[in-house]
Amino acid sequence: MKKHILLDIRSLSLPDDKEWLRHLETGAAAGEWLVYLPAGAVAAALYGGDETLGLQVRSLLNFCQVIPARESSLNHDGDKDRDCGTRLDDAYLQSIPVSGADLLITPRPGLHTICPQAVAPAWPLIRQRLDASGTPSPIAFIDLARQQSEVMVLLEERVHRVLQHGQYIMGPEIVELETLLAAYVGVRHALTTASGTDSLEIALRTLDLGPGDEVITVPFTWISTAEVIAAVGARPVFVDIEPAGFNLDVAQLEAAISPRTKAIMPVSLFGQMPDYAAINRIAARHGIPVIEDGAQSFGATQNGRRSCSVTGIASTSFFPAKPLGCYGDGGALFTQDDALAAKMRAIRTHGGEKRHHHPYVGMNGRFDTLQAAVLLAKWPVWENEVAARNRLGARYTELLRGVCGVPEVMPGNTHVYAQYTIRAADRDAIAVKLKEKGVPTAVYYPKCLHEQPVFAGLGYGPGSFPESEKAAREVLSLPMHPYLTDETQLFIAQTVRESVTP
Ligand SMILES: Cc1ncc(COP(=O)(O)O)c(C=O)c1O
Repeated sequence: MKKHILLDIRSLSLPDDKEWLRHLETGAAAGEWLVYLPAGAVAAALYGGDETLGLQVRSLLNFCQVIPARESSLNHDGDKDRDCGTRLDDAYLQSIPVSGADLLITPRPGLHTICPQAVAPAWPLIRQRLDASGTPSPIAFIDLARQQSEVMVLLEERVHRVLQHGQYIMGPEIVELETLLAAYVGVRHALTTASGTDSLEIALRTLDLGPGDEVITVPFTWISTAEVIAAVGARPVFVDIEPAGFNLDVAQLEAAISPRTKAIMPVSLFGQMPDYAAINRIAARHGIPVIEDGAQSFGATQNGRRSCSVTGIASTSFFPAKPLGCYGDGGALFTQDDALAAKMRAIRTHGGEKRHHHPYVGMNGRFDTLQAAVLLAKWPVWENEVAARNRLGARYTELLRGVCGVPEVMPGNTHVYAQYTIRAADRDAIAVKLKEKGVPTAVYYPKCLHEQPVFAGLGYGPGSFPESEKAAREVLSLPMHPYLTDETQLFIAQTVRESVTP
C-alpha cells in the first residue's frame, strides 16, 4: 500500500535538504509513497520572496502533488507559516483528499510528526514510522495523545508563556480561563479549583454544612460526591436512579427530604443532566439549595442551557479523562450569586477574603496556572470535540440499539458522553470477549456507594436502591473520545454485537 506523506515546506531551508529530497524523490519515483504539498504553502513559498525556498519548491513540484489549502490558509501576503506552521495540524491531515496522511514531515516536533532538523540521519526513523503506519494502532479507551497532537503547537506556546512569566499560582491564565468558562456556561461567576472533589467540598462549606445536616445525592456515582458530604461532617442520604439515563429518579426525591436536608446534590452522570427543572421545583418548595455535580457533563445542555448553569451552585472536574480535561487535577465552580461566589473564592484560598484576613476555615483549593494554560490550549478545539461526542454517542446508539441496553438521551437534553455506557446482564463475559479482540472497556461503577465499607454506618442494606444495584451489575463503558474514527467505532460496535449472547 502506498504511503501518503504531507510535507511542511519550511523544512526545506535546512542545509541537508538535498539528501532528504533525494530520499523523498527516489521513494516517489519507485511508487513507494505519494508526497503532498499544501497549496497555500506552495503559493507562499513561490511568491514569498525567499529565492532558495522558491527554487526548492519548484523542484518538489516535479514529484509532489499539490493539494488544496484550507480557505483560511490561502494567503497572498507571503506568510508561509500560515499553511505549514500552526495550521498544518492533524485536522488538516484528516482533510486532505487521501485517506489521511501517514506521516507529516515538519520542523516542529510533535506527535505524528518527524522533526527533520537533521533529516538525512533521521531517515531510518522516517522509514520506521512509515512502515509502522500501515499497522493499525491499538484502540484507545480515551485517546489523549491524539488530542494532544491536535493542540500541540498552542500547548507549547501556552506552557512556555507560563514558564516565562513564572506566576505559577493564580497567574493571568487563571482569570483568562475563568472569564472564558463563565461566558461559555452562561453564568456570572466561574472559579477554578484544584479538583472536582475540592469544588464540591468548597460548595458545601460555603453553605455552612456540617454535623447534623443531610445532603441528598445518588448512590450510583463516583465516591467523591458522597465523600465530600461526609468530609464536612454531614450525612449523605441516597435516592435511587432511573434506569434509562442513570440519573437521580426525581419521583423519589421528595420522600427523601427531611427537616435536616440542607442541600440536594444530583450528579449529571456519564455526560447527561438529570431533570433539573423538576429537581429545582421540589427544592424551591422546601427552600433547599441545589448543587449540580457536573464533573462528567461539562458541555452538555438541557433545554438550551449548559450544564453548570441551572442550579444555585454547580461544580465540574478537569481530571484528564473528563470531557474537558487538563494534565493533572483540576475543577471549577459556577454560580450566578455574587455573595456565594465571593465566599467560595475565599474558601478556595485558605478562607481569606484579602491578604492576611481569614474569616472562614478554608483550604488550599486553587487551580495551577500551568493547568489553566493546558485548558486554554485545548479551548479552540473544545466546541468541535463536543459536537464529535454528540455525534459519536448517537451513532453508537444507532449501531447498538437492540443489541444491548443503550443510554437514552432524555427529552430536552444533549449528552457529551463522558462515558458511552451500555448495559447487559452478561457484562463481564462481554468485557472479556471485547478485550480478546483488542477493545478496551471499563466499569463505572461496579459497586454502589451505600455498599462501600466507608458508608456502612449509614445503615443501608443490600436491595436499598435496586436500580443502582442493577446498574452496577450491568454497566460497561466502551471506548469514547472525540477522535474515535467511524471505522474504529463500527469495529467496536460489531465486536459488541458478536460478543453479546443472544
Ligand atoms: C461524578 C463525579 N463527581 C466528582 C468527581 C471528582 O472530580 P476530581 O477527580 O476532579 O476530584 C468526579 C471525578 O471522577 C466524578 O466523576
